Amino acid sequence: MSTPAAGPSSLALPVLDTDLEARLRARMVEVEERLEVEIRSQAPFVTEAARHLLHAGGKRFRPLLVLLAAEAGDDPGAAGVLTAACVVELTHLASLYHDDVMDEADLRRGAESANSRWDNHVAILTGDFLFSKSSELTATLGADAVRIQAETFTRLVEGQIMETLEPGPGDDALDFYLRVVAGKTGSLIATSARYGARFSGAPLEVEEALTAYGEIVGCAFQLSDDILDIGSESDESGKTPGTDLREGVPTLPVLLARRSQDPADARLRELLDADLSDDALHTEALSLLRVHPAMDEARGYVLGRAREAQELLKVLPEGPVRDALDAFAVLIATRTA
Ligand code: IPE
Ligand code: IPE
Ligand code: MG
Ligand code: MG
Repeated sequence: MSTPAAGPSSLALPVLDTDLEARLRARMVEVEERLEVEIRSQAPFVTEAARHLLHAGGKRFRPLLVLLAAEAGDDPGAAGVLTAACVVELTHLASLYHDDVMDEADLRRGAESANSRWDNHVAILTGDFLFSKSSELTATLGADAVRIQAETFTRLVEGQIMETLEPGPGDDALDFYLRVVAGKTGSLIATSARYGARFSGAPLEVEEALTAYGEIVGCAFQLSDDILDIGSESDESGKTPGTDLREGVPTLPVLLARRSQDPADARLRELLDADLSDDALHTEALSLLRVHPAMDEARGYVLGRAREAQELLKVLPEGPVRDALDAFAVLIATRTA
């Protein structure tokens, strides 16, 4: 079998402390080794389909957050922490297989999406397989972990489904969208921080603060992804820019641009109401949005959320762990890939 083509791509570790950085790097290697084992199936084709995106790269942001949050507990090296790191990445990986079917995306982690390489059936069932593997692993962490995982998955799926619906009457489009984002992405990133704190034996007060931190960081992460969907000039993210726009997902910059009453934005408003599966209209809408003030407004909003997350870290003692979590919040809000 092939070895990872690119391996996990780097979301540079926001750690200034060399001991902490070395510990995290060593544990991330263990996470990779464990993931490799956990995705094996009795059926060689299922293993191949599951390996496809595991090997394609990815930032491994969620397992890294588990490990980082675990540094707030007495036993960051506990076996449960490593298992939890694998659980969240497997859940995330599964959601990517399904998401690419929903979005009809053909590029993921710089590789062909599973739906494009094979078909929707393979992508959906491989996603299901990975969810099951994640659940099997969660069961080794005890009943509470299973409950948390199930609640997280409920929220993730609800968020994904809500994204395909219109806001209800009287529902503000932006508020509705922020609820979608909290469900589809905030939930799992909150659980990543929570698992890290919990399985390293952090006090309940710390676990709760880090869960709230993860939820906000997760929302900021998704909103910066939305900005990148419009702002990236290339497929540096390993995805096709403009996919949300083409699919008609009303992301943060689009919602903010729609609020503008400026007559100069009349054409953009018209395009945003049009069918952007047409290449020429899609390109025109993308180029108008890229230079629209809504992009900076969106960036400002995301940075504001990161600062809110940082406030929650005051429950931790000052030191390298708090500094790293602090930097992590800003890093994900200002990322370029
Ligand atoms: C992609 O997540 C889906 C979102 C929630 C935006 P990531 O950006 O973490 O994807 P990988 O794991 O690095 O490929
Ligand atoms: C997907 O959101 C979130 C989940 C996978 C739950 P997006 O549709 O924005 O993610 P990308 O941009 O395809 O990675
Ligand atoms: Mg998508
Ligand atoms: Mg996206």
